[in-house]
Amino acid sequence: MSDWQKLIAASDVPVGSGKEFAVSGRIVALFNVDGQFQAIDGICAHQGGPLAKGQLVDGVVTCPWHGWQFQIANGQHCLNPRICQTTFEVKVELGDVFVRV
Ligand code: FES
Repeated sequence: MSDWQKLIAASDVPVGSGKEFAVSGRIVALFNVDGQFQAIDGICAHQGGPLAKGQLVDGVVTCPWHGWQFQIANGQHCLNPRICQTTFEVKVELGDVFVRV
């Protein structure tokens, strides 16, 4: 596991939104879920859609390409528990969001 990497100012990710980052060769989808920052693999397990661009409702993101839905807290697909996006540790320090990939 790598060191913490700074992504963005927390204030630049409004509640209910997501942003995509390339970190250590991975695509990270960072979300602000009701003020809590959480991150999952940003490449949808279906066909590679950009999950950070999906709609976020009640801690669930809907892939913008074909509608697969994932729980942000644990990366699990909402209908098929065998499908799971990798999750990443996130922390906020001094107003900035950090991720560990
Ligand atoms: S690529 Fe995400 S649902 Fe198809």
